[in-house]
Amino acid sequence: MRRKVVGASWKMHVNTLEEGLALAQGIHQEVGQITDVDIFILPAFPLIQGLSTIFKSGQIGWGAQNMCFETKGAFTGEVPAPMLKELNCQYVELAHAERKKFFNETDLTVNKKLRICQEFGFTPVVCIGETSEDLAQDRAQAALKEQVVTMLSGLNHDFLKQTILAYEPVWAIGKSKTAGLDYIQNMHCYIRNIVKEYFGQDVSDDIRIIYGGSVSCETSDELLGLNDVDGVFIGRFGLNPENFRKITESALKNI
Ligand code: PGA
Repeated sequence: MRRKVVGASWKMHVNTLEEGLALAQGIHQEVGQITDVDIFILPAFPLIQGLSTIFKSGQIGWGAQNMCFETKGAFTGEVPAPMLKELNCQYVELAHAERKKFFNETDLTVNKKLRICQEFGFTPVVCIGETSEDLAQDRAQAALKEQVVTMLSGLNHDFLKQTILAYEPVWAIGKSKTAGLDYIQNMHCYIRNIVKEYFGQDVSDDIRIIYGGSVSCETSDELLGLNDVDGVFIGRFGLNPENFRKITESALKNI
């Protein structure tokens, strides 16, 4: 049985330490003692340490929104895995559409980063998703297949089983509502089949595929009720402790 996931990336929405710590405290108060769902928050790098001092007395995990593809050396502006390990990060997000768009992250770079996650024991949250151009060219599924196969290749199967795939249709990020429910269910099912075809039944049974892209407490009940949706990855609408609790309650209803 796959454990449900409720994760949030704060992107760069929170831009002072004070605001970040207050939000972390609020979320900790609302959902910090829940044990039946895997909950995590990914703040900007400078907030990780402060947030960890709040979350360590509860069940909420934490991690980074990115990580360097090398572990040491002349890579100006980057953050290496050993430092994330020292900060006791459990999760590392990779391949978000914004990193691809603004920072030229490629599927091959993500594969290198995943090898480092494997070495350091991080649970990666790997974003995949088709763009509106892919949709217009009728190649949404082909794009997803390419991403999954390139990014996950050469990794060991035990590691893949604990990997989280975040399906985020790029055209549904930052909008007022999510993609349609049937569409999401079909795509999750398709992704699981790709994983099965390339990495085997065991991996496809265990890997968690969560949905991201304008998730809110208004839509979380329906989303988390879908067969192949193992959780949600929240952006803007997770920046409020009460909404975060409501979304977590949707996950608890569907365990
Ligand atoms: P959003 O972000 O919920 O603000 O659309 C989601 C994401 O990019 O993961």
